Amino acid sequence: MRSSHWYAGNSRDAYIHRAWMRRGTPNSSFDGRPQIAIINTASDLAPCNSHLDEIAQSVKNGIWEAGGVPLNLPMISLGETLVRPTAMLWRNMVAMATEELIRANPIDGTVLLGGCDKTIPALLMGAASVNLPSIVVPGGPMLTGTFKGRVLGCGTDVWRMSEDVRAGKMNEKEFIESESAMIRSKGHCNTMGTASTMGIMAEALGMTLPGVAGTPAPDSRLLQAAHESGRRIVDMVKVDLKVSQVITRASFENAILALAAVGGSTNAVVHLLAIAGRLGVSLKLEDFDRIGSRIPLLVNLQPSGKFLMEDFHRAGGLSAVFKQIESLINASAITVTGKSITETIGSGEIYDSSVISTFKAPLKKEAGIAILRGNLAPDGAVIKPAAASPSLLRHTGAAIVFDSIEDFHSRIDSPELDVTPDSVLVLRGCGPKGYPGMPEVANMKIPRKLISLGVTDMVRICDGRMSGTAYGTVILHVSPESAAGGPLSKIKTGDIIELDVPSRSINVKLSDAELSSRPASQLAKDACAQPERGWQRMYIDHVNQADKGADLDFLIGSSGPDVSRESH
Ligand code: FES
Repeated sequence: MRSSHWYAGNSRDAYIHRAWMRRGTPNSSFDGRPQIAIINTASDLAPCNSHLDEIAQSVKNGIWEAGGVPLNLPMISLGETLVRPTAMLWRNMVAMATEELIRANPIDGTVLLGGCDKTIPALLMGAASVNLPSIVVPGGPMLTGTFKGRVLGCGTDVWRMSEDVRAGKMNEKEFIESESAMIRSKGHCNTMGTASTMGIMAEALGMTLPGVAGTPAPDSRLLQAAHESGRRIVDMVKVDLKVSQVITRASFENAILALAAVGGSTNAVVHLLAIAGRLGVSLKLEDFDRIGSRIPLLVNLQPSGKFLMEDFHRAGGLSAVFKQIESLINASAITVTGKSITETIGSGEIYDSSVISTFKAPLKKEAGIAILRGNLAPDGAVIKPAAASPSLLRHTGAAIVFDSIEDFHSRIDSPELDVTPDSVLVLRGCGPKGYPGMPEVANMKIPRKLISLGVTDMVRICDGRMSGTAYGTVILHVSPESAAGGPLSKIKTGDIIELDVPSRSINVKLSDAELSSRPASQLAKDACAQPERGWQRMYIDHVNQADKGADLDFLIGSSGPDVSRESH
């Protein structure tokens, strides 16, 4: 046991380590039993995770029962809706804290408790860099909310209703009244947003017990699964089943298949790339297109479809989806059970075909994520065609350029804005370095003067991200970003943009010579953040571009579990 380096023997240091940890724990706690950290992102300021202490208790019970010693390790948490300037700025900080606190302490294995968008990716990144046995228990989605008899999808319906208010289809009083009906219970957003997607990604990577992802937060079966996960991690430590044995190139391929089939969030691209970077697994942007873009959409969930996570779980969950694409799954991947991923699918029955459809009769023939390249995005850009308007997937239009999200807000509804339905809205200064932290602002709202004409979608291009609960013909994660000197920094209003998703291209109609000789816009440079100190300064100096997962350059790879020095 790694922890025996702290606790074993009769030295003064072992005495100190044991004595301070006693506090009522039995002598047997130090007889070589696995010491399991429950890395817990519960926080009152991360409301989607505020119930994780209850889950931690069930995990603890399972760990004791299996002969381990549970240790609560509170971790920095991120509430997506509250944290300024954007939660993504802090994902790498959580990942770094997770890595360093596991390394610094007498821990043999970890149980990772996350929920809200960035928490599961950050925990996985940190745990991957230490590479001890680890298991994820996703906090689960909230129950379906209803307002005046109508189902409310958390996140997606906020976007939809606020657009309805702007279009005069809904009055403001009704909009505000719906607020108290949107969040019906504990848990994270119940659409196929980023939190739901990353819970499913954790299961698809093999990092949860089978069938756990998507279990609603208030469902008693989640506590049961938490208990069983506590039991399982003790056995994983005994057989030394490490993260790097579970998360492999094969499991990433399976996660990309799942991402496509469930219609998951584009944010999974950045997070999976970052996790792969920690493990030294070769994963490229094009893998998402090559493996996932021909996969049919099987799950009818908002924002691409109709239902919510409670329905997904009721209809059979990821096992049912995996059963439909079983022939495509890389069976060499194993899960935390130690068994092949295909063995854990079980019967994979679909219990409601209106929520999960079959491979033969899918919701859409092709889903997944398309990767675009061209002179506007030499290192790639991302679009989710299933959430876009088919008529806009091939489109040519004149750019209207905004230098920052503040610039966008100040001008988008101006009657003077020279915009038509064919215009292409371009928003720069929202990449990892520029904002900083790559916020979810790419799904820019439609100009008021077009909304009143009934326009509901336009081509939009941004170096930032889009909420997993959002939708539209939005080109995201443009790399390199404007603040890193990418072509987006040189674009002017009136330049002609050509989008061709079937051909995977995004270009501005400028010759190579013209584009390279054009200076970057001074306004764009001025709009970028220039913090002088602290995390933001370090982040800007070291963050990689989106096509590499937006991790910090010095956090790529693994530091492993060994720390030999100590100060006593
Ligand atoms: Fe936490 Fe949506 S705000 S998951």
